[in-house]
Amino acid sequence: MAFSLPNLPYADNALEPSIDEKTMVIHRTKHHNAYVTNLNTAVTGDAALEGKTLEQLLENNLAIVPEGKKAAVRNNGGGHFNHSLFWLIMAREGQGGGGEPIGQLADAINATFGNFEEFKAKFKAAAIGRFGSGWAWLAKKADGTLEIYSTPNQDTPLMDGKTAIIGLDVWEHAYYLNYQNLRPNYIDAWWKVVNWSTAEAIYNGNFTLTF
Ligand SMILES: [Fe+2]
Repeated sequence: MAFSLPNLPYADNALEPSIDEKTMVIHRTKHHNAYVTNLNTAVTGDAALEGKTLEQLLENNLAIVPEGKKAAVRNNGGGHFNHSLFWLIMAREGQGGGGEPIGQLADAINATFGNFEEFKAKFKAAAIGRFGSGWAWLAKKADGTLEIYSTPNQDTPLMDGKTAIIGLDVWEHAYYLNYQNLRPNYIDAWWKVVNWSTAEAIYNGNFTLTF
């Protein structure tokens, strides 16, 4: 079955003022949609790839993907995975979005990074430090510990055997209409719409992302 563009679990304008409606619409229906379309083009008719789940395609650094298809699946499969997650780990400010980490995820963040403020500072540094296009991540490594880091382009923690807990898209298409060159302001505003309930469920293995 072909991959498809997911609907948002909230209105296009729900994340304002942190993320404006026009950016949300273009981001999902143009950029994300292109990743889905190009991923389907890459796998359709390829016996090694067609019918595989997105996880199967990406895990172990795309081990099952033939060399000639690796770039297409990496960029577009990664793009589909990253954006599908991105929409779900956000919510309207005050209605699931914002606040601070909860539960076992909060405990793990505090134990690893000191406190929420130090965590945010380190995450922001990763997001600002990504030159060009990419993502900043809070991920859970195979040994269960947390890590903040960034990936270029549409590379995703799944490729490296890590579980993405939250991820911030720092491609210019994610913020340029509203923030222009001011990526740090976009990062600061984003905390107001992070859905820590979903993030905690991901951390605990109680959340399944479907494609
Ligand atoms: Fe994006």
